[in-house]
Amino acid sequence: MKKLVVFYSLDGNTKMMAESVAAAAGADILELKPVKEITRNNFMKILVGGKQAWSKSEPELLPFDVKPEDYDIIFFGTPVWAWTYAPALRTYFRDHKPTGKKVALFYCHGGGPRNFIEKFEEAVEGNEILGSIDFKDPLRHEKDKDIERAKDWTGMMLKAAGIFD
Ligand SMILES: Cc1cc2nc3c(=O)[nH]c(=O)nc-3n(C[C@H](O)[C@H](O)[C@H](O)COP(=O)(O)O)c2cc1C
Repeated sequence: MKKLVVFYSLDGNTKMMAESVAAAAGADILELKPVKEITRNNFMKILVGGKQAWSKSEPELLPFDVKPEDYDIIFFGTPVWAWTYAPALRTYFRDHKPTGKKVALFYCHGGGPRNFIEKFEEAVEGNEILGSIDFKDPLRHEKDKDIERAKDWTGMMLKAAGIFD
């Protein structure tokens, strides 16, 4: 079975987990990058990004040639922004939402994801959701432990998909 990890990350937490998942799964990896990225090291990023997420904006993404239909299992990763998934994922789901795939969801947050997972699950409706996992700012907290958790979880997701090797 072909596996893909699709993710967006502004500050590197989700990227680190995406790379851990991809390594554990032997998956291809697609990082979504908006054409116009919000400024990172700026206190305004919470306001600007939060407004984008809250208003369900769909930023234009840099082009990529990875097609979800070529894959059987897709892992989606995002930071939580204003209790929902990042706008880059919203654009991706608008244009490339898979159907009939096995999907697994991972996300990073600062400690208050609220009902985030309901929204993320809704975004991948039409697919079989194998499971989900969250990480609390892994770069600042339990980096090594979270990398191990990501690897273990990836193994569980593959087993749930019927892959045992
Ligand atoms: C625009 C913005 C909005 C955020 N909103 C939330 C939120 O609603 N709940 C939460 O727990 N964390 C929130 N966070 C924190 C991030 O989800 C968290 O720091 C995450 O680990 C960042 O992932 P990244 O490094 O991959 O970008 C927000 C961060 C940003 C930049």
